[in-house]
Amino acid sequence: MARIIVVSNRVAVPTGDGGARAGGLEVAIRAFLKRHHGIWFGWSGKVAAKADVATRTVGHAGVTYITTDLTRTDYQEYYNGFANRMLWPILHYRLNLAEFSSRDLTGFMRVNDHFADQLHKILRPDDIIWVHDYHLLPLAKALRERGHENRIGFFLHIPFPPPQLLTALPKHERLILSLCHYDLVGFQTDGDADNFARYLTDECNMPSRDSRTFIAGKRTVRIGAFPVGVETVEFNRLARRTVRSAFVREVRRSLADRAMIIGVDRLDYSKGIALRMEAFERFLADFPQWRGDVTYLQITPRSRSEIKEYADMERRISETVGRVNGRYGEASWTPIRYVNRSHSRSALAGLYRSARAALVTPLRDGMNLVAKEYVAAQDADDPGVLILSRFAGAAVECGAALLVNPYDPEAVGASIAQALSMPLEERRGRHGELMRVLTQNDVKFWGERFMAALTRPVSETAAWPHKLSA
Ligand code: F6P
Repeated sequence: MARIIVVSNRVAVPTGDGGARAGGLEVAIRAFLKRHHGIWFGWSGKVAAKADVATRTVGHAGVTYITTDLTRTDYQEYYNGFANRMLWPILHYRLNLAEFSSRDLTGFMRVNDHFADQLHKILRPDDIIWVHDYHLLPLAKALRERGHENRIGFFLHIPFPPPQLLTALPKHERLILSLCHYDLVGFQTDGDADNFARYLTDECNMPSRDSRTFIAGKRTVRIGAFPVGVETVEFNRLARRTVRSAFVREVRRSLADRAMIIGVDRLDYSKGIALRMEAFERFLADFPQWRGDVTYLQITPRSRSEIKEYADMERRISETVGRVNGRYGEASWTPIRYVNRSHSRSALAGLYRSARAALVTPLRDGMNLVAKEYVAAQDADDPGVLILSRFAGAAVECGAALLVNPYDPEAVGASIAQALSMPLEERRGRHGELMRVLTQNDVKFWGERFMAALTRPVSETAAWPHKLSA
C-alpha cells in the first residue's frame, strides 16, 4: 500500500501535554494521521547552530514523525521573515503590514530546498505527499527538480486573496506559479479557489479545461475547496466530560453565576481582538442592564512575538482591556478577563460548553476551528450562541450563527446582546442546523475528500464535487 507523507512547517510530535499549543493545522493533521498512520515531516520547532542542525525520527501510535531543525538565520528569514512578515499579511488582505526583503525570500527558498533534500532521502516512487500551508508553497517544485513524480497535493489553511491584492507580492509569479507543480491545490472556501483560478487566468493566461483544471505546460493542476472540519462528535463527548472537571468548576465558581462570553485566539492581528474588545465595550455602553452580569473571558496565547507588528498589537490589546475594565469594572466584577496562558483542548472544550456565547470575530481567517469546536462542545438542550465574523471561512458553512462585521463594534455589541437574550427555541434551532453541517463535514470527511481527489485520475476531474452541500 502507498505511504502517505504529510509535510507542514509545524509538527505536533506527541509530548503528553494534550497538544496545548497546537494551532488549527496541527489539530486537523493529527486527526487525519490518527486514521492513516503515515509519516509527518516538518520543522522540529528548534533553532540550532548550523553545525548542529539535525533531523530526527520518532514513532508514536503508528505515525512516524521526522523533524528537522532550522538555523537562526533560517528561522529569521524563512519563518519570521518571508512566511510571517510577507506572506501572512498579504494572504490576510493586510498589504500595509507586509514587508518585503529579497534576503528573506532567498532564506524561504533555501528552507524549502532543505525540506526537499531531507524528503529526497526517504521518498519512494508511490508515496502520496500532502503538503500544508503557505510556508511550503514551492516545495513541490523543489521535489520535482529532484526527480520526484509522486502525487503531491497542497492545502492552504489560510485565505487566498483576489489577484488585485496578491500581485502586490514582489515576484509573485515565481512563487504562486510554483503551486502548479502540485497535482491538486486545495483551499478552505470556493471564494479562495476562485481567487487562485482568476490569478491563473487573468495574470498568467494559463489555459484551463474548466474553472478548476489548469494546464501548466506538461502538467495538469486541479484546484478545489475542502473546508477543514473538526472532530465534531468526539469534541462534544470531550466537552461533556470536561465541563465537570475541577478546573472548569473553579472557573464557573469564580464567575458567581454571571454569564460567560468566551474568545480563544492566538495573539495575531488577523483575529481582530482589540476591535472585539471595543465591541464588548460598546455592548456595555449600549446595554447597561447587562453590566455586572456578564464576563468576557479572552484566552490568547502569545505567538510570533519576535515580529514587531505582533508586539504592537499586544500593547494595543492590553491598553483596551485596561480601559474597559477601568471604565466599567467594579470592586466585585471585572468585565474582561484577559489570559495569555495556553490551555489544553480538553480544558477549552469544558469552557466552551460553559459559555453562553463565543465571540469569534477575525478580520480575516482561512476557516477558524474555534468557531466549529465551540458549536461542537455545546449541550444540544441548552446551547450557547456563536457570534461569527463574516470574514472567517467558517461563515460559509455556519450561516446559522449570528454573522457579524468585525469592523462594526456597534453591530457586534448588538449581536452580543441578542445572543445573551436569545430564546431557548431559537438557540436550539440554530445549534441544530450548525451541528447538522459540522457533523457531515467533520475533519475525517475533509481528509478523505482531499485524499480521494488527490488520488483520482486526471480524466475523472469532471466528477469532482466542487461545492459541498450545506
Ligand atoms: O494555518 C495557520 C498557521 O500558520 C498554522 O500553520 C499554525 O498551526 C498556526 O497558524 C500557528 O502559527 P505558528 O506555527 O506560526 O505558531
